[in-house]
Amino acid sequence: MALDAETRTQFLDTIRRFVRDKLVPLEAEVSETDRIPDAIIQDMRDLGLFGLSIPTEHGGLGLSMEDEVLVCFELGQTSPAFRSAIGTNVGIGSQGIVMFGRDEQKRAWLPKLASGEAIASFCLTEPGAGSDAASLKTTAIRRGDHYVVNGTKRYITNANRASVFTLMARTNPENKGAGGISAFVVPSNLPGIVIGKPEKKMGQQGAHICDVIFEDAKIPVECLLGDKEGEGFKVAMQVLDRGRLHIAAVCVGVAERLVRESVRYAQERTQFGQRIGDFQLIQAMLADSKTETYAARSMILDAARKRDEGQNISMEASCCKLFASEMVGRVADRAVQIFGGAGYVADYGIERFYRDVRIFRLYEGTSQIQQIVIARALMKGEG
Ligand code: CAA
Repeated sequence: MALDAETRTQFLDTIRRFVRDKLVPLEAEVSETDRIPDAIIQDMRDLGLFGLSIPTEHGGLGLSMEDEVLVCFELGQTSPAFRSAIGTNVGIGSQGIVMFGRDEQKRAWLPKLASGEAIASFCLTEPGAGSDAASLKTTAIRRGDHYVVNGTKRYITNANRASVFTLMARTNPENKGAGGISAFVVPSNLPGIVIGKPEKKMGQQGAHICDVIFEDAKIPVECLLGDKEGEGFKVAMQVLDRGRLHIAAVCVGVAERLVRESVRYAQERTQFGQRIGDFQLIQAMLADSKTETYAARSMILDAARKRDEGQNISMEASCCKLFASEMVGRVADRAVQIFGGAGYVADYGIERFYRDVRIFRLYEGTSQIQQIVIARALMKGEG
């Protein structure tokens, strides 16, 4: 459901103020401590951020995709680790349940995910199955009234805080492809589920990724997502279609912040007796960054509106993720260049963004996977 114009404006203003007054001042601390303060998580709960995409009947805000990307444009204007705290509840962790869950699964989990009382993570990637997601090896073998799950999931965002996992596992080991995979909604506290230590990462300190290891974990049959086995890969792909738009919108938010910082620095810094922003070579970088940011913003809004109209936006979501994640990498690189030596020094925060944005070209499908999705759609005549 879309917000009315006035409510939307007020909500976006509230988020903008929250980002400016509460999150931006904490960026360096979160990066150094690798931790988001509890009080900020509580503020996010109070603002309804965990439930942006969860339907109102289950306690969320039930935003349209267009509203959600507008929120991401705002939330993206600070360290992406803050967005990651709510990201899996809004996107890949919850949307399998929203789109395919049975009523009892929705009732059991969505209100807690919307309030932020529970965190959801998305367990698809494995040590041997990254881009080739359909080759995953984790098995879920039916034994009477439960499945026995064995395998390791890797780089799972928010796994150390999760109460529930959307798990993709192979229910039919005879079928080595996509058709052998089923999706489950799994409480994280079941015996046989072990969470690894958070990985040390290049950027986005404060956001955590861990292994999730299943060792003869017994999962009740009621945990199967949807009505039948074998649909898990399609569940994952449809969740990712939506998630890719969300990530693309976050890239735009970060790019807008970096353009602003770059302009401010170009106005303040003088060399050769004048502001560096008066030099055309600096102006060219500013103009390219602004143009690309605007282009990404426009295409994301277009794709989000198409999704809200009920269109299949699988290809468009990949176009947005590909362009926006590559774009923000270029914008961050130019920001470092405009800041010069200061761009390389931690105090200015620009080098942190440079590291933070690198993951956008990797997770929820690498740029190369987005190219494959786009090209396959074109070759099928869907473009
Ligand atoms: N919607 C619905 N169905 C879809 C679909 C979509 N978007 N994409 C594929 N399918 C269906 C196909 O129609 C096909 O169905 P049939 O068998 O009935 O014809 C089935 O799924 C298999 O599809 P493909 O033959 O296209 O599968 P593939 O093995 O060639 O893989 C792929 C396609 C696009 C490469 C896919 O594997 C992919 O997207 N890989 C990247 C995985 C990814 O994004 N991982 C990110 C993990 S999550 C994360 O990063 C977050 C975190 O927490 C860190």
